[in-house]
Amino acid sequence: MNFEFTEEQLMIKQAAQDFARTELLEGVIERDNKAIFPAEQVKKMGELGFMGMMVDPKYNGGGMDAVSYVLAIEEISKIDSSCSVVMSVNNSLVCYGLEHYGTEEQKNKYLKRLAAGEIIGAFALSEPEAGSDATHQRTTAENKGDYYLLNGTKNWITNGKNASVYIVFAQTDKEKRHKGINAFIVEKGMKGFEVGIKEDKMGMRGSDTTSLMFTDVKVPKENRIGEEGFGFKLAMNSLNGGRIGIAAQALGIAQGALDLAVAYSKERKAFGKLISEHQAIAFKLADMEAMVETARLLVYKAAWLKSEGKEHSHASALAKLVAADNAMKVTTEAVQIHGGYGYVKEYHVERLMRDAKLTQIYEGTSEIQKIVISRGLLQK
Ligand code: CAA
Repeated sequence: MNFEFTEEQLMIKQAAQDFARTELLEGVIERDNKAIFPAEQVKKMGELGFMGMMVDPKYNGGGMDAVSYVLAIEEISKIDSSCSVVMSVNNSLVCYGLEHYGTEEQKNKYLKRLAAGEIIGAFALSEPEAGSDATHQRTTAENKGDYYLLNGTKNWITNGKNASVYIVFAQTDKEKRHKGINAFIVEKGMKGFEVGIKEDKMGMRGSDTTSLMFTDVKVPKENRIGEEGFGFKLAMNSLNGGRIGIAAQALGIAQGALDLAVAYSKERKAFGKLISEHQAIAFKLADMEAMVETARLLVYKAAWLKSEGKEHSHASALAKLVAADNAMKVTTEAVQIHGGYGYVKEYHVERLMRDAKLTQIYEGTSEIQKIVISRGLLQK
């Protein structure tokens, strides 16, 4: 077993850390307060190669492994999760789906621009009545020969407003249940496609989460990804990787909060000594470190399995469950250590705690991860 990173992985980690400190830190509180989408920052992430990290260089990607990817997500999430979620959806869900299941034409037309960060993508699976219960898609795609007629509504779509390209899941043959679901590439501006208003979220407020409405949208048949009825498998396979990205995000949030708590406890005095010298605080810090390191091992292991082309659905669900739940606990303790200062918006821990909550909810709630884990366990 080798716990060491390669030189390339370390370089990527460093580049992401430098980028986050120099380009993201300064405006992060204001962007969060005003819920401003980090357009300039996302553009720079594209220029630095963070938007299509694992994509083959022949489609403008970085050709990197999943470990490098999680290291970059972790570093960016220590400072600004609104940026890392844009990156995560574009990399692990949109670019992944197109690269692995798209036609050569689809890759040339869409993937190249997405991987270069010229445009961003969104992944539209969730619906008002089908969030966790993803097999019961209400959006329909009627097969009309040369095209599919798309009707329905999607909810909670990350990058909803700022994306140019959407992977949209819809039911073509209800009788076949999940085997009747297809995945389509839908472009912004297609007639009958409307984007809802940006949700006013508790955390990750910079990222744009919207609903999407489709009314008789004619999607050309060449925009279907994969064979007829392959949509649900595509969604699940993409989410297996996507969950590693969100787990890395949760890890970054937790590490960011721990770093801030350690620094604060070495500055702040109470009862005549630094608060770090009080056992009540020292024990909290130790517990937080244990939670962060537990998450880290699971996240890196899941990423390593993915990089090696090994089965990773179980490992990714475990990593997401533990990293997200631990991020919530670690950030809550970081706020506690900061006392009143931790509860006001000019201190970063307050934002990190709100951001951590979302990692327990999206790309499958913690409860969904438990379903995936227990099914894997019982089938062994
Ligand atoms: N990997 C690969 N295949 C999987 C899988 C996985 N993790 N989970 C299920 N499948 C396959 C099953 O093997 C089965 O295939 P076969 O019929 O060929 O055997 C098929 O999918 C259906 O599985 P189930 O019968 O187990 O389906 P289910 O309805 O009981 O539940 C579920 C499946 C795991 C709960 C699934 O619905 C799920 O993951 N739900 C959560 C969805 C989710 O994460 N949504 C968030 C999307 S994010 C978004 O849309 C917004 C955004 O901005 C990113």
